[in-house]
Amino acid sequence: MTETTIPTIQIVDAPKYVGQTVKIGAWLRQKRGSGKMAFLQLRDGTAFFQGVVAKADVSEELFDLAKDLKQETSLYVTGEIHADDRSSFGYEISISGLEIIGESQDYPITPKEHGTDFLFDERHLYLRHIKPFATLKIRNTLIAATYEFFNQEGFIKLDAPLMTGSAPEGTTDLFETDYFGQSAYLSQTGQLYAEAGAMAFSKVFTFGPAFRAEKSKTRRHLTEFWMIEPEMAFMHQEQSLELQERYFAFMIEKVLERNDQELDLLKRDKDLLRSYTELPFPRVSYDDAIKLLQDNDFDVEWGVDFGSPEETFLANHFSKPVFITNFPKAIKAFYMKRHPDRDDVVISADLLAPEGYGEIIGGSERDTDYDYLKAQIEKEGLDMEEYGWYLDLRKYGSVPHSGFGLGLERMVTFVTGEEHIREAIPFPRMTHRLRP
Ligand code: 4AD
Repeated sequence: MTETTIPTIQIVDAPKYVGQTVKIGAWLRQKRGSGKMAFLQLRDGTAFFQGVVAKADVSEELFDLAKDLKQETSLYVTGEIHADDRSSFGYEISISGLEIIGESQDYPITPKEHGTDFLFDERHLYLRHIKPFATLKIRNTLIAATYEFFNQEGFIKLDAPLMTGSAPEGTTDLFETDYFGQSAYLSQTGQLYAEAGAMAFSKVFTFGPAFRAEKSKTRRHLTEFWMIEPEMAFMHQEQSLELQERYFAFMIEKVLERNDQELDLLKRDKDLLRSYTELPFPRVSYDDAIKLLQDNDFDVEWGVDFGSPEETFLANHFSKPVFITNFPKAIKAFYMKRHPDRDDVVISADLLAPEGYGEIIGGSERDTDYDYLKAQIEKEGLDMEEYGWYLDLRKYGSVPHSGFGLGLERMVTFVTGEEHIREAIPFPRMTHRLRP
């Protein structure tokens, strides 16, 4: 076969070329070898596999070149694809030609164990490694599945501004910035804008970054995270919960369908994941959750917000995601709908994931009453001037409506089975991390 007829392929397509000679642009992850063989671990951004150079089959020059390659050198390899049952990918390439594209210096992330801080200082390079590769591919599926789901449900995507004057989720964790002499905040949520959108388009979702100056250093908090916030006109809370669980299960199904290899690389239990697609999820009132916790020796009283141990216990108790409904009004946002029969709780729900992943969705029905919301805004000490437009939505044809917010990185962490949320975003922002 002449050079011109050799197809250039990507590793992921190797199974279609068994027995054929192909050319692949790749990077060298690792290598090992003996006097007679060099084994090159290759990656090209689509998959990982092994290239084998046998001294007996190639020129001495090529064998020496392969033996001396440094980690992360970029190259074109040419060779024949074989099935290989011993590798997790199932295929390898017998290399007959090698061309260096870009030399590599001494690469800092070597095959030995490195500390997490070091890896995240080198995140721009660490992205090339197996765990980030698998995790962020799954993130990509969750993003794609989000668009698919909401498109098929008749939603339109509405882009909310990221610089705002309002602080709907409370004033304690705002990032403030100067906006031509006046204060602006990086958006905590797109919800208020989504509510305006729902009155115009019936069903909308926002999907963008949210910023919270969270001082708490936990494995679930980022200061910049991505949130999906659907908002539905003429929809009460129970219908919203049904939509939430269908969306949640849809995302898991898509990952199971499309990311088999990545789930294996991360050693995620796929049967367990599949069990989370069985609907409906249990609904437990906040009142009952408190009782359940107290009966199990938790030192909690009615009125407190749940911390991580309580959330972990509750979801594990049901072995599946669980909605905790109707939280105390005092610990929830100003816009949540009052309960028709009680003035101490609101029509809200948090979806808690099992295995210690905690809250992934927070949502509620929205109050529709102009005077009540105005009083709430005053009570919270929020700047009324910033909320005039929001109150307008209650002046001109207010309707029942509900919505929720799903934290993308919490979902990625849960689906991939990662320990820490920083793995779930390409470049995490946390209290002590602003670069790279
Ligand atoms: O419960 P939260 O604060 O709700 C809202 O922002 C509402 N406006 C949503 C709505 O009804 N439209 O946040 C929603 C979700 C949480 O359940 C969590 O998954 C995620 O956003 N989240 C965070 N994720 C990472 N780091 C943080 N600091 C987060 N804070 C919230």
